[in-house]
Amino acid sequence: MSHRKEARVFYQAEKKQFHLSNDKISYIFKVSSDGKLLHLYYGKSLPNRDYSYLIEMHHRPMTTYRQENDLLYSLEHLKQEFPEYGSTDFRHPSISMKQENGSKITNFTYLKHKIVDGKPKLENMPATYVEEDSESKTLIITLKDNLTNVEVELLYTIFTEFPVITRSVRVLNKGTETQIIEQLASLSLDLPDADYDWIQLSGAWARERNIKERSLQQGIQSIESTRGISSHQHNPFIALKRKQANEHQGEVIGASFVYSGNFLIQAEVDTWDVTRLQVGINPFGFEWRLLPNEVFSSPEAVLVYSDQGLNGMSQTFHQLFRTRLVRGEWREKNRPVLINNWEATYFDFNEDKLVSIAEKARDVGVELFVLDDGWFGERNNDHAGLGDWFVNEKRLPKGIGSLAEKIRSIGLKFGLWFEPEMVNKDSQLYKEHPDWLIHTPNRKEHHGRNQFVLNFGVEEVVDYIFEQMCKIIDESKLDYIKWDMNRPLTDVFDHRLDFNQQGEVFHRYVLGVYRLYELLIAKYPHVLFESCSSGGGRFDPGMLYYAPQTWTSDDSDAIERLKIQYGTSMLYPVSSMGAHVSIVPNHQTNRITPIETRGNVAFFGAFGYELDLNKLSENELAIVKEQIKFYKKYRSEIHNGLFYRLRSPFTNDNETSWMVVSKDQKIAIVAHYKILNEVNRSYQRLELKGLNKEMTYRIDGQLYSGAELMHAGMVISDASSGQINEQNPRPETHDFDSRIWILTQEER
Ligand code: GLA
Repeated sequence: MSHRKEARVFYQAEKKQFHLSNDKISYIFKVSSDGKLLHLYYGKSLPNRDYSYLIEMHHRPMTTYRQENDLLYSLEHLKQEFPEYGSTDFRHPSISMKQENGSKITNFTYLKHKIVDGKPKLENMPATYVEEDSESKTLIITLKDNLTNVEVELLYTIFTEFPVITRSVRVLNKGTETQIIEQLASLSLDLPDADYDWIQLSGAWARERNIKERSLQQGIQSIESTRGISSHQHNPFIALKRKQANEHQGEVIGASFVYSGNFLIQAEVDTWDVTRLQVGINPFGFEWRLLPNEVFSSPEAVLVYSDQGLNGMSQTFHQLFRTRLVRGEWREKNRPVLINNWEATYFDFNEDKLVSIAEKARDVGVELFVLDDGWFGERNNDHAGLGDWFVNEKRLPKGIGSLAEKIRSIGLKFGLWFEPEMVNKDSQLYKEHPDWLIHTPNRKEHHGRNQFVLNFGVEEVVDYIFEQMCKIIDESKLDYIKWDMNRPLTDVFDHRLDFNQQGEVFHRYVLGVYRLYELLIAKYPHVLFESCSSGGGRFDPGMLYYAPQTWTSDDSDAIERLKIQYGTSMLYPVSSMGAHVSIVPNHQTNRITPIETRGNVAFFGAFGYELDLNKLSENELAIVKEQIKFYKKYRSEIHNGLFYRLRSPFTNDNETSWMVVSKDQKIAIVAHYKILNEVNRSYQRLELKGLNKEMTYRIDGQLYSGAELMHAGMVISDASSGQINEQNPRPETHDFDSRIWILTQEER
């Protein structure tokens, strides 16, 4: 009998137990005698039985209890789905809601539930989605606080194909009083122990998403953003990895947040080593006034379970994000090879210069020309022009439409850079609307890169920018937009809002950004968007819902990119990482790396060039031509195949290695990068992953079985420089070396 894959939500009415499951995972909880949701289990798939025995109630001194004359039932001792503070649990809650009398005590208890096929859409916010009802099941639990008449809906979706559960929360004010939501976690998960390593992706501008790891300890460990964007400093993601798990085996839980603003992800380990994992909007700087009849919805948290180590977790994220978060026609289409003029010209360009770069680009096979910063307003440097989305006539006297036409007649698609959320004081927009800036009245505003942030929480601001952008998009028939965002938010306040709404400004801002994206995508479904925030300052799942690719980092040095792209691959698919070959000496590090290695790194991304091809030698141009040919041939496999990390630049100072395997396992592309050349190097074999052990693969004319390549490994030794003589001529190895191998199945 064939076993059909299915997502299920079981409800055992008698035990009041909910059990979400598919063939890989189970997530189980139940309603307590007084209506609280008690968590029972999350992990590998289990049969549908009664798991109430997993609730342990022990008497422990110096604690507090729910009912008089009872010394057992305390929420402090129980794992929960929607914890509250102040009624026997002392850990951080899911919700904090201030009532008109100032009290923050609530008592949300089970009211009803509903199980639906598919996945309801989140209003005005990005989220994962399904295309057929059979792809998932959603459980919606309604809790109610009887005193305030406020209801909470917990939405749990389990996918059929993926070991994934998503959760979001809605708060509905059905009472007559105003409520202030001070905190609302999208996800709160109590795990029975703390035997995990916590992994985060952290860094800085040009050093994004480096992998940091430490073991969980009693107390709170957290990452957050307070910058109004998800930030370069911390990505909205963590993994909890079992101590004995590694890249390819063992248990890992990954949590990610589909949101592009301030977030908090924390793990609180209590005195009994229970771990409470929470994901949500950062309560710092947040509060939301909820009038009677209003609803507040949290963004979505995504929970991934893997019993195949970190790489297994990553592959689930990649497939989910690539196919059920990214939308529109670019989800399926091959991404164009692009050339961007930023590092080629910065602000120093005119039409002739751009056209000469475009012509050279067409000759080597580039498909899309992107004109970066500087084409608009009085934008001759980074002090002026932001906000004025009309052509800079001094620089492009014939207009943007004419340039676009020219580029298209050369044979390339045309794209433009915008920074829609920003304004310079030296701009027409600021002169007309000084009030559109985010600022605090009677206090000085603080700049970043000489620019200020428009209040995207205000509808007319977003509408205005939309109109301006539409004019340019129509005039130049854009194929692509790079949407940049180059500073965090400060002085956050909005005089249009009440005193008790000031904590809404950050979130309203993010909703405004999402609204503009939505308006543009609805009107221009063919445009490919690439998001950017000084490189990777807003590389998050929220952005991926609108822009299928993100400029990964302003650091375009191939060696630096190894860490950045390796870390980013923890959850973001290769197709989402903008990766360009740039000039040497590199503009960020001054490093000189071979053009081959620059290409070999950038291939594992949404590939392009960021240099003036006119400055390359004939030999280099020939290499570029080959690179583009290679990428066009294999981009579909690279973007849609399974990605395997083989050697980590975070644990190996001198080497990085990764590979992709096509879905049918017939093609694999393996890359190995060596940073410094070594003398008399040790023997090296690379154990490949994800091949079909029964298949025979051809590599450089030799045949190997999948089994031997995975178990014995592929021999990649190079003796490197040593004694040079006739039998041992100078080996062609050098610093910043790299190699790529193509494995193709040999049909028998
Ligand atoms: C940011 C981006 C760069 C470039 C510049 C232009 O730094 O990350 O790629 O677009 O802005 O000002």
